[in-house]
Amino acid sequence: MALSGKHILLIISGGIAAYKSLDLIRRLKERGARVTPVMTRGAQEFITPLVVGALSATHVFTDLFSRKDEQDVGHIRLARDCDLVLVAPATADLMAKMANGLADDLASTVLLATDRRVLIAPAMNPKMWMAKATQRNIETLKGDGIGFIGPMAGEMAEKGEVGLGRMAEPLQIVEAVEALLEHGPKPLAGKKAIVTSGPTHEPIDPVRYIANRSSGKQGHAIAKALAALGAEVTLVSGPVTIADPAGVTTVHVERAEQMLAAVVSHLPTDIAVMVAAVADWRVATSLDQKIKKQQGDQPPALQLVENPDILKTIGHHASRPKIVVGFAAETENVEANGRAKLTRKGADLIVANDVSAETGIMGGDRNSVKIISADGIDAWPDLDKAEVARRLAALIADRLA
Ligand code: C5P
Repeated sequence: MALSGKHILLIISGGIAAYKSLDLIRRLKERGARVTPVMTRGAQEFITPLVVGALSATHVFTDLFSRKDEQDVGHIRLARDCDLVLVAPATADLMAKMANGLADDLASTVLLATDRRVLIAPAMNPKMWMAKATQRNIETLKGDGIGFIGPMAGEMAEKGEVGLGRMAEPLQIVEAVEALLEHGPKPLAGKKAIVTSGPTHEPIDPVRYIANRSSGKQGHAIAKALAALGAEVTLVSGPVTIADPAGVTTVHVERAEQMLAAVVSHLPTDIAVMVAAVADWRVATSLDQKIKKQQGDQPPALQLVENPDILKTIGHHASRPKIVVGFAAETENVEANGRAKLTRKGADLIVANDVSAETGIMGGDRNSVKIISADGIDAWPDLDKAEVARRLAALIADRLA
């Protein structure tokens, strides 16, 4: 079982998503983990310690000043006697406490005292997630090395509220836990990697932009797979609606020029995987004011200029990474175009795929790729994007070995 012998301290804070934590406990236990729950007072307003205790089959800790609990275990031991501290749901309030080092109840005290890895699954109203204070706290927590899973976009418990703020589903949280605790070999330990992902948005005026259908799923999966093999990964992502992968540092950009600057500022690295669907062109001069539609006027002509080619820049850079991987999203002559790209862009590997509309690859969950290198072409079967990512990460590790 994937989590056999693992001990997870699960902190449940007070949000409506606490009901999902009950299923989370079951899923973790199914995989062999031992789960010790800590509940905040808020959490106990949503679910009872009785049901949490029944599902985890263990004592539920709730009180910092419980003489019995302190005598038996003590909050310091609770904080250290585990492989991972998982906070699900993590409320805006608990995140604020964590970011500021407050310790006024058992959950926040344990979080301050722990020397274990901490993974949080935030859940809150989208307005609270977007609030400047929360965003500041998120930056602080990421800087402190706290792992994030979610939040996800979607409907909230409150009627009519949609946006970023839903807690990740229990199985997604379990996957993030497994990735963090993975015992597997770490052939990329000590290696640095930079990955680009998603589309870029090239502004026309303050409200309009040029974009494409890239979802970021493949690039994000590759960042995660490299991290799972031990690499220290920076993911430079264009605007996407999927969550930042756990265990990876994500930098958000909008335009190709910003993406290039972010990538170059992270050199030198050992590995570069440029997956982003960078817009080839941008509008020569994007306007500060919205272009007005005037009765009887001709539609405006957009003057386009070429964007910098990030892959090509990296492939020929003075601090070129040891291994440079590019993608070739083609709708025709996939192999021939892929081969040409290998030399032109200075890449070691080109992952070529057919993105014709009928393949459903762009934005979909599966990918069918050909790996093109100086050694020839290797056609992989139709695979889940996560599996393409794992195989590619393993291939990169082999090539670096
Ligand atoms: O030339 P084309 O856009 O087909 O090349 C695709 C590859 O080049 C991808 O790896 C993509 O991330 C990268 N690319 C880039 N910067 C651009 C255009 C493409 O990094 N401006």
